[in-house]
Amino acid sequence: LDKLPRIDTDVIVIGAGIAGLYTALKASETKRVLMITKKSLFDSNTRYAQGGIAAVISDEDSPDFLAQDTLIAGAGLCEAAAVDVLVHEGPQGVHELIRYGTNFDEENGHFALTKEGAHSQRRILHANGDATGYEIVRALAERTKVDPTLELWDDHFVLDLLTEDGECRGALVQKPDGTRVAVFGSATILCTGGTGQLYRYTTNPEIATGDGVAMAYRAGADIRDMEFNQFHPTSLCYPGAPRFLISEAVRGEGAYLRNIRGERFMENYHPQLELAPRDVVARAILSEMEATKSTYVYIDITHETPELIKHRFPTIFEFCLNYGLDMTTDWIPVAPAAHYMMGGVKTDLRGETSIRRLFACGEASSTGVHGANRLASNSLSEAIVFGQRIVNAINLLPAGKKTADNGPSAGRNAVLTGALIERRLKLQKDMVRYVGLRRNRAGLQKGLDDLKKQLPLFQLNLTKKEELEYANLLTCALLVTESALHREESRGGHYREDFPQRDDEHWRKHTIINRDTGIR
Ligand code: SIN
Repeated sequence: LDKLPRIDTDVIVIGAGIAGLYTALKASETKRVLMITKKSLFDSNTRYAQGGIAAVISDEDSPDFLAQDTLIAGAGLCEAAAVDVLVHEGPQGVHELIRYGTNFDEENGHFALTKEGAHSQRRILHANGDATGYEIVRALAERTKVDPTLELWDDHFVLDLLTEDGECRGALVQKPDGTRVAVFGSATILCTGGTGQLYRYTTNPEIATGDGVAMAYRAGADIRDMEFNQFHPTSLCYPGAPRFLISEAVRGEGAYLRNIRGERFMENYHPQLELAPRDVVARAILSEMEATKSTYVYIDITHETPELIKHRFPTIFEFCLNYGLDMTTDWIPVAPAAHYMMGGVKTDLRGETSIRRLFACGEASSTGVHGANRLASNSLSEAIVFGQRIVNAINLLPAGKKTADNGPSAGRNAVLTGALIERRLKLQKDMVRYVGLRRNRAGLQKGLDDLKKQLPLFQLNLTKKEELEYANLLTCALLVTESALHREESRGGHYREDFPQRDDEHWRKHTIINRDTGIR
């Protein structure tokens, strides 16, 4: 480190989805902010969010109703205090997004609100029909670019966190030309998103490689509940097409699921039918696919008017049409795909992790809001609510210790060899096979043994982005697999064939993994 150039700022924000953009903008009201993203402002999961953002806006709704829905979906593992924060502070966050220039859809002078799985009320705001994430990113990115106290580094890869005396001092960053720089700040915020790329089939873009979770783990932070993966029930499953998200809002507006024989089947699985919690719908689809020896089921909204379909879902409609599928007349083939990581870097209600001055926000974090299964459209609201809390906490932090050039240490170990594309694909296939929608001890143990053969994982002499991402994916794959093997019950996004029941007597607790103390 002593040979590297150093840069000092106040707040380092890593990642540029809604958590990164919003938190950076808020922090820059009082601090100098450096925002670092490995690609660009328009490469994040947020940009692809369709359904919307859940908040208590309507007079018919109440924070208690949203709390209740969130807790039920979370299957006994939500932190009630975190849920309380979400439901009460969400509306203010939405108003801030509007103040920053986001345009949500309106109807007759009120916000147009839709419904998604396991919501008891219409409470989901959306923009341009089904392009909510894009509209939020557009508005926040425009602000970011003209903010005089916010500096943006795109195409920069954060290799590792710098820690000293149990505190985070900053990060080691690789520039586009391959040179490195040590960046120091009094607070560092991980807004690096999730781990969708652990799986062969995912709604997430290629950047979702769990970088923040992996580097927090290397730095010694507590990582929580990584066994809880959410598989979205309905991603497009059509030859030549990517696993494009077919929003739950399509079912919210009345779409049916049908197996390849044309039969509706959700009544065999759950009283809420197509709008049952996501894990229930995803496993029901898998069962139907197996029973009919098919790789997909259908989503059918042809009974709604073409006007409604095109007005509410212009992006999905156009996307499907590009592949010759017309939602107004055709049933659309869909299958589950990895979508969201409920666990992440454990934080308190101020967004701080178990390492002082290291914060986590959005999908990278585990605030306790989502429990074992996230309620649809709670993720965007969680990011802004806890983003604001992080900024409040940072504003109260005493000044950081001045770090000597050779003071802090970065992560540890390892060399990667071999053809990376094949290795990434194999990892993704193995994760589907052993750590997917249905798990059992033999499969998980096999998956874990295979992963461990690839140890050690990470070394600072890795230079290519693909190598670094692969090392981070491997770390996250281990965290997920170990956690899934540890939890001998089924709950929310974690289903064990060998322990198919929820077991509140023994397992109503979080799984925590720490580099130094192991799993507990
Ligand atoms: C969707 O539109 O179905 C995704 C919304 C979410 O994941 O919260």
